[in-house]
Amino acid sequence: MQNKNVLITGATAGIGFETAKALAKKGANIYIVGRNKEKAQKAVDEIIAATGNKNVSFFIADLSSQKEVRRLADEVKAKLERLDVLINNAGGVFQQHQLSVDGIEMTLANNHLSYFLLTNLLLDLLKKSAPSRIVIVASHSHYSGKFNFDDMEMNHGYNIMKAYERSKLGNVLFMMELSERLKGTGVTVNSLHPGVVKTGIAGKNTGKIVQWAWKVFEIYQGAISSEDGAKTSIYLASSPEVEGESGKYYDLCKHKWHSRYSQTEGLKEKLWEVSAKFTGLA
Ligand SMILES: NC(=O)c1ccc[n+]([C@@H]2O[C@H](COP(=O)([O-])OP(=O)(O)OC[C@H]3O[C@@H](n4cnc5c(N)ncnc54)[C@H](OP(=O)(O)O)[C@@H]3O)[C@@H](O)[C@H]2O)c1
Repeated sequence: MQNKNVLITGATAGIGFETAKALAKKGANIYIVGRNKEKAQKAVDEIIAATGNKNVSFFIADLSSQKEVRRLADEVKAKLERLDVLINNAGGVFQQHQLSVDGIEMTLANNHLSYFLLTNLLLDLLKKSAPSRIVIVASHSHYSGKFNFDDMEMNHGYNIMKAYERSKLGNVLFMMELSERLKGTGVTVNSLHPGVVKTGIAGKNTGKIVQWAWKVFEIYQGAISSEDGAKTSIYLASSPEVEGESGKYYDLCKHKWHSRYSQTEGLKEKLWEVSAKFTGLA
Protein backbone atom coordinates (compact mmCIF):
# COMPACT_ATOMS: atom_id res chain seq x y z
CA MET A 1 0.00 0.00 0.00
CA GLN A 2 3.10 2.22 -0.07
CA ASN A 3 2.10 5.66 -1.44
CA LYS A 4 -1.41 4.54 -2.44
CA ASN A 5 -4.06 7.18 -1.83
CA VAL A 6 -6.91 5.92 0.33
CA LEU A 7 -10.06 7.93 1.11
CA ILE A 8 -12.15 6.53 3.95
CA THR A 9 -15.40 7.95 5.26
CA GLY A 10 -16.42 7.72 8.92
CA ALA A 11 -12.89 7.19 10.16
CA THR A 12 -13.21 9.29 13.31
CA ALA A 13 -14.43 6.25 15.27
CA GLY A 14 -15.03 2.52 15.32
CA ILE A 15 -14.31 0.30 12.33
CA GLY A 16 -13.34 3.18 10.04
CA PHE A 17 -10.74 4.50 12.46
CA GLU A 18 -9.11 1.08 12.84
CA THR A 19 -9.19 0.55 9.07
CA ALA A 20 -7.47 3.89 8.48
CA LYS A 21 -4.85 3.11 11.13
CA ALA A 22 -4.05 -0.32 9.70
CA LEU A 23 -3.75 1.00 6.14
CA ALA A 24 -1.54 3.85 7.39
CA LYS A 25 0.66 1.18 8.98
CA LYS A 26 0.96 -0.42 5.54
CA GLY A 27 2.33 2.86 4.17
CA ALA A 28 -0.75 4.29 2.41
CA ASN A 29 -1.51 8.01 2.25
CA ILE A 30 -4.70 8.23 4.30
CA TYR A 31 -7.45 10.81 3.81
CA ILE A 32 -10.17 10.41 6.37
CA VAL A 33 -13.59 12.03 6.11
CA GLY A 34 -15.20 13.24 9.33
CA ARG A 35 -18.02 15.64 10.12
CA ASN A 36 -16.38 17.23 13.15
CA LYS A 37 -13.05 19.05 12.82
CA GLU A 38 -11.80 18.37 16.36
CA LYS A 39 -12.64 14.67 16.15
CA ALA A 40 -11.04 14.38 12.72
CA GLN A 41 -7.85 16.12 13.91
CA LYS A 42 -7.74 13.84 16.96
CA ALA A 43 -8.11 10.75 14.76
CA VAL A 44 -5.34 11.97 12.44
CA ASP A 45 -3.01 12.72 15.39
CA GLU A 46 -3.67 9.28 16.93
CA ILE A 47 -3.04 7.46 13.65
CA ILE A 48 0.22 9.35 13.06
CA ALA A 49 1.36 8.66 16.64
CA ALA A 50 0.48 4.95 16.38
CA THR A 51 1.98 4.31 12.93
CA GLY A 52 4.69 6.91 12.39
CA ASN A 53 3.11 7.55 8.97
CA LYS A 54 2.78 11.32 8.62
CA ASN A 55 0.77 11.16 5.39
CA VAL A 56 -2.57 11.19 7.18
CA SER A 57 -5.00 14.09 6.82
CA PHE A 58 -8.70 14.84 6.80
CA PHE A 59 -11.59 16.29 4.84
CA ILE A 60 -14.69 17.57 6.59
CA ALA A 61 -18.21 16.77 5.39
CA ASP A 62 -21.55 15.79 6.85
CA LEU A 63 -22.32 13.00 4.42
CA SER A 64 -26.06 13.13 5.04
CA SER A 65 -26.05 16.44 3.12
CA GLN A 66 -25.80 16.16 -0.66
CA LYS A 67 -24.37 19.66 -0.89
CA GLU A 68 -21.55 18.64 1.46
CA VAL A 69 -20.92 15.40 -0.45
CA ARG A 70 -20.60 17.43 -3.66
CA ARG A 71 -18.22 19.90 -1.99
CA LEU A 72 -16.20 17.00 -0.58
CA ALA A 73 -15.90 15.37 -4.03
CA ASP A 74 -14.73 18.69 -5.51
CA GLU A 75 -12.13 19.10 -2.74
CA VAL A 76 -10.88 15.52 -3.20
CA LYS A 77 -10.57 16.00 -6.97
CA ALA A 78 -8.74 19.30 -6.48
CA LYS A 79 -6.29 17.80 -3.98
CA LEU A 80 -5.62 14.28 -5.26
CA GLU A 81 -4.18 13.40 -8.63
CA ARG A 82 -5.09 9.78 -8.07
CA LEU A 83 -7.36 7.76 -5.81
CA ASP A 84 -6.40 4.12 -5.39
CA VAL A 85 -8.96 3.08 -2.80
CA LEU A 86 -12.31 4.57 -1.75
CA ILE A 87 -13.82 3.06 1.39
CA ASN A 88 -17.46 3.98 2.01
CA ASN A 89 -17.75 3.20 5.71
CA ALA A 90 -19.68 6.00 7.49
CA GLY A 91 -23.06 4.90 8.77
CA GLY A 92 -25.55 5.11 11.58
CA VAL A 93 -28.89 4.10 13.02
CA PHE A 94 -31.77 6.50 13.66
CA GLN A 95 -34.40 5.59 16.20
CA GLN A 96 -36.90 8.22 15.02
CA HIS A 97 -38.00 8.94 11.49
CA GLN A 98 -36.06 12.12 10.75
CA LEU A 99 -35.15 14.08 7.66
CA SER A 100 -31.77 15.10 6.31
CA VAL A 101 -31.13 18.72 5.30
CA ASP A 102 -32.31 17.67 1.84
CA GLY A 103 -35.64 16.51 3.31
CA ILE A 104 -34.85 12.81 2.79
CA GLU A 105 -35.34 10.11 5.42
CA MET A 106 -32.05 10.08 7.32
CA THR A 107 -31.09 6.38 7.23
CA LEU A 108 -31.53 6.29 3.47
CA ALA A 109 -29.71 9.62 3.02
CA ASN A 110 -26.83 8.86 5.38
CA ASN A 111 -26.18 5.17 4.77
CA HIS A 112 -27.05 4.64 1.13
CA LEU A 113 -27.43 7.85 -0.89
CA SER A 114 -24.16 9.30 0.45
CA TYR A 115 -22.26 6.21 -0.82
CA PHE A 116 -24.08 6.40 -4.14
CA LEU A 117 -23.42 10.10 -4.69
CA LEU A 118 -19.83 10.30 -3.42
CA THR A 119 -18.74 7.22 -5.37
CA ASN A 120 -20.35 8.39 -8.60
CA LEU A 121 -18.75 11.83 -8.27
CA LEU A 122 -15.31 10.22 -7.78
CA LEU A 123 -15.60 7.61 -10.53
CA ASP A 124 -13.57 9.50 -13.14
CA LEU A 125 -10.71 9.90 -10.66
CA LEU A 126 -10.91 6.20 -9.72
CA LYS A 127 -10.94 5.17 -13.39
CA LYS A 128 -7.95 7.40 -14.10
CA SER A 129 -6.16 5.68 -11.20
CA ALA A 130 -6.94 2.10 -12.27
CA PRO A 131 -6.31 -0.51 -11.05
CA SER A 132 -8.28 0.95 -8.15
CA ARG A 133 -10.74 -0.38 -5.60
CA ILE A 134 -14.01 0.66 -4.02
CA VAL A 135 -14.94 -0.95 -0.70
CA ILE A 136 -18.48 -0.70 0.64
CA VAL A 137 -19.14 -1.44 4.30
CA ALA A 138 -22.59 -3.04 4.26
CA SER A 139 -23.84 -5.49 6.88
CA HIS A 140 -25.25 -8.93 7.53
CA SER A 141 -28.45 -6.94 8.26
CA HIS A 142 -28.99 -6.65 4.52
CA TYR A 143 -30.27 -10.26 4.56
CA SER A 144 -33.46 -8.99 6.26
CA GLY A 145 -33.76 -5.87 4.08
CA LYS A 146 -36.55 -5.27 1.56
CA PHE A 147 -37.25 -2.24 -0.64
CA ASN A 148 -40.72 -0.78 -1.03
CA PHE A 149 -40.34 1.63 -3.93
CA ASP A 150 -43.76 3.12 -3.15
CA ASP A 151 -42.50 4.22 0.26
CA MET A 152 -38.74 4.66 -0.13
CA GLU A 153 -38.51 6.94 2.91
CA MET A 154 -40.55 4.69 5.19
CA ASN A 155 -43.15 7.34 5.87
CA HIS A 156 -45.45 4.52 6.95
CA GLY A 157 -44.45 2.12 9.73
CA TYR A 158 -40.92 3.50 10.34
CA ASN A 159 -38.74 1.17 12.35
CA ILE A 160 -35.07 1.72 13.26
CA MET A 161 -33.94 -1.79 12.27
CA LYS A 162 -36.05 -2.03 9.12
CA ALA A 163 -34.67 1.32 7.94
CA TYR A 164 -31.11 0.19 8.72
CA GLU A 165 -31.55 -3.22 7.05
CA ARG A 166 -32.91 -1.53 3.95
CA SER A 167 -30.03 0.96 3.80
CA LYS A 168 -27.51 -1.88 4.06
CA LEU A 169 -29.35 -3.82 1.36
CA GLY A 170 -29.02 -0.60 -0.65
CA ASN A 171 -25.23 -0.79 -0.15
CA VAL A 172 -25.15 -4.34 -1.52
CA LEU A 173 -27.42 -3.58 -4.49
CA PHE A 174 -25.35 -0.49 -5.31
CA MET A 175 -22.17 -2.58 -5.22
CA MET A 176 -23.73 -5.19 -7.54
CA GLU A 177 -24.92 -2.70 -10.16
CA LEU A 178 -21.76 -0.58 -9.96
CA SER A 179 -19.62 -3.65 -10.55
CA GLU A 180 -21.57 -4.34 -13.78
CA ARG A 181 -21.10 -0.75 -14.90
CA LEU A 182 -17.36 -0.80 -14.11
CA LYS A 183 -16.54 -3.92 -16.14
CA GLY A 184 -13.40 -3.34 -18.22
CA THR A 185 -12.38 -0.15 -16.40
CA GLY A 186 -9.90 -1.69 -13.93
CA VAL A 187 -11.95 -0.37 -11.01
CA THR A 188 -13.33 -3.07 -8.71
CA VAL A 189 -16.06 -2.79 -6.09
CA ASN A 190 -16.87 -5.18 -3.27
CA SER A 191 -18.96 -5.02 -0.10
CA LEU A 192 -18.70 -6.60 3.31
CA HIS A 193 -20.04 -7.46 6.72
CA PRO A 194 -17.46 -6.51 9.36
CA GLY A 195 -18.90 -8.84 12.03
CA VAL A 196 -20.88 -7.71 15.06
CA VAL A 197 -18.47 -5.11 16.36
CA LYS A 198 -18.28 -3.28 19.68
CA THR A 199 -18.49 0.35 18.50
CA GLY A 200 -20.48 3.42 19.43
CA ILE A 201 -22.92 3.04 16.53
CA ALA A 202 -25.98 2.22 18.64
CA GLY A 203 -25.23 4.96 21.17
CA LYS A 204 -25.90 7.81 18.72
CA ASN A 205 -29.42 8.95 17.73
CA THR A 206 -31.00 6.36 20.05
CA GLY A 207 -32.65 6.16 23.46
CA LYS A 208 -31.81 4.02 26.51
CA ILE A 209 -33.92 0.99 25.50
CA VAL A 210 -32.24 0.61 22.09
CA GLN A 211 -28.83 1.11 23.71
CA TRP A 212 -29.59 -1.58 26.30
CA ALA A 213 -30.97 -3.97 23.64
CA TRP A 214 -27.84 -3.44 21.53
CA LYS A 215 -25.59 -4.23 24.52
CA VAL A 216 -27.49 -7.50 25.08
CA PHE A 217 -27.20 -8.27 21.34
CA GLU A 218 -23.44 -7.64 21.46
CA ILE A 219 -23.01 -10.02 24.39
CA TYR A 220 -25.26 -12.68 22.81
CA GLN A 221 -23.41 -12.42 19.49
CA GLY A 222 -19.93 -12.35 21.07
CA ALA A 223 -19.18 -8.95 19.51
CA ILE A 224 -15.60 -8.43 18.33
CA SER A 225 -13.31 -5.41 18.78
CA SER A 226 -13.16 -2.57 16.22
CA GLU A 227 -9.65 -3.74 15.38
CA ASP A 228 -10.96 -7.17 14.39
CA GLY A 229 -14.03 -5.60 12.76
CA ALA A 230 -11.75 -3.64 10.44
CA LYS A 231 -10.06 -6.77 9.05
CA THR A 232 -12.43 -7.37 6.11
CA SER A 233 -12.25 -3.72 5.01
CA ILE A 234 -8.44 -3.86 5.18
CA TYR A 235 -8.45 -7.16 3.25
CA LEU A 236 -10.64 -5.79 0.45
CA ALA A 237 -8.67 -2.55 0.29
CA SER A 238 -5.22 -4.07 0.19
CA SER A 239 -4.93 -7.83 -0.27
CA PRO A 240 -3.44 -9.17 -3.53
CA GLU A 241 -5.81 -12.14 -3.04
CA VAL A 242 -8.75 -10.00 -4.18
CA GLU A 243 -6.94 -8.23 -7.03
CA GLY A 244 -9.41 -8.01 -9.93
CA GLU A 245 -12.31 -9.46 -7.90
CA SER A 246 -15.48 -7.42 -8.16
CA GLY A 247 -19.20 -7.58 -7.43
CA LYS A 248 -18.80 -9.73 -4.33
CA TYR A 249 -19.90 -9.67 -0.71
CA TYR A 250 -17.46 -10.75 2.02
CA ASP A 251 -17.99 -11.74 5.62
CA LEU A 252 -14.94 -12.00 7.88
CA CYS A 253 -12.63 -11.96 4.83
CA LYS A 254 -14.48 -14.83 3.12
CA HIS A 255 -16.65 -14.58 0.03
CA LYS A 256 -20.30 -15.19 0.89
CA TRP A 257 -23.48 -14.96 -1.16
CA HIS A 258 -25.45 -11.81 -0.65
CA SER A 259 -29.14 -12.23 0.05
CA ARG A 260 -31.39 -14.15 -2.31
CA TYR A 261 -33.72 -11.14 -2.34
CA SER A 262 -30.85 -8.88 -3.55
CA GLN A 263 -30.68 -11.09 -6.64
CA THR A 264 -34.29 -10.33 -7.61
CA GLU A 265 -34.32 -9.53 -11.31
CA GLY A 266 -34.34 -5.81 -12.02
CA LEU A 267 -33.93 -4.77 -8.36
CA LYS A 268 -30.40 -3.35 -8.49
CA GLU A 269 -31.17 -1.47 -11.72
CA LYS A 270 -34.38 -0.06 -10.21
CA LEU A 271 -32.58 1.11 -7.05
CA TRP A 272 -29.89 2.75 -9.18
CA GLU A 273 -32.52 4.65 -11.15
CA VAL A 274 -34.33 5.80 -7.99
CA SER A 275 -31.06 6.74 -6.22
CA ALA A 276 -29.94 8.77 -9.24
CA LYS A 277 -33.20 10.74 -9.01
CA PHE A 278 -32.81 11.28 -5.25
CA THR A 279 -29.28 12.62 -5.74
CA GLY A 280 -29.88 14.67 -8.86
CA LEU A 281 -27.63 12.45 -11.00
CA ALA A 282 -30.48 11.55 -13.36
N1 LIG B 1 -20.78 -2.12 14.60
C1 LIG B 1 -21.29 -3.18 14.00
O1 LIG B 1 -21.57 -4.22 14.61
C2 LIG B 1 -21.55 -3.13 12.52
C3 LIG B 1 -22.08 -4.29 11.92
C4 LIG B 1 -22.31 -4.27 10.54
C5 LIG B 1 -22.02 -3.13 9.79
N2 LIG B 1 -21.53 -2.02 10.40
C6 LIG B 1 -21.24 -0.84 9.56
O2 LIG B 1 -19.93 -0.40 9.82
C7 LIG B 1 -19.82 0.98 9.48
C8 LIG B 1 -19.06 1.71 10.59
O3 LIG B 1 -19.86 1.67 11.76
P1 LIG B 1 -19.24 1.57 13.24
O4 LIG B 1 -19.88 0.41 13.89
O5 LIG B 1 -17.78 1.69 13.20
O6 LIG B 1 -19.92 2.86 13.89
P2 LIG B 1 -19.30 4.15 14.62
O7 LIG B 1 -18.28 3.76 15.60
O8 LIG B 1 -20.47 4.95 15.06
O9 LIG B 1 -18.58 4.89 13.40
C9 LIG B 1 -19.32 5.45 12.37
C10 LIG B 1 -18.49 6.51 11.70
O10 LIG B 1 -19.29 7.12 10.66
C11 LIG B 1 -19.28 8.55 10.88
N3 LIG B 1 -20.50 9.14 10.37
C12 LIG B 1 -21.78 8.73 10.57
N4 LIG B 1 -22.62 9.56 9.95
C13 LIG B 1 -21.87 10.51 9.32
C14 LIG B 1 -22.15 11.64 8.52
N5 LIG B 1 -23.41 12.01 8.28
N6 LIG B 1 -21.14 12.36 8.04
C15 LIG B 1 -19.85 12.03 8.31
N7 LIG B 1 -19.51 10.97 9.07
C16 LIG B 1 -20.52 10.23 9.57
C17 LIG B 1 -19.14 8.69 12.38
O11 LIG B 1 -18.73 10.01 12.70
P3 LIG B 1 -18.81 10.56 14.23
O12 LIG B 1 -17.55 10.06 14.88
O13 LIG B 1 -18.84 12.03 14.04
O14 LIG B 1 -20.06 10.00 14.85
C18 LIG B 1 -18.08 7.63 12.64
O15 LIG B 1 -16.80 8.09 12.28
C19 LIG B 1 -21.25 1.48 9.27
O16 LIG B 1 -21.50 1.59 7.88
C20 LIG B 1 -22.10 0.38 9.87
O17 LIG B 1 -23.37 0.29 9.25
C21 LIG B 1 -21.28 -1.99 11.75
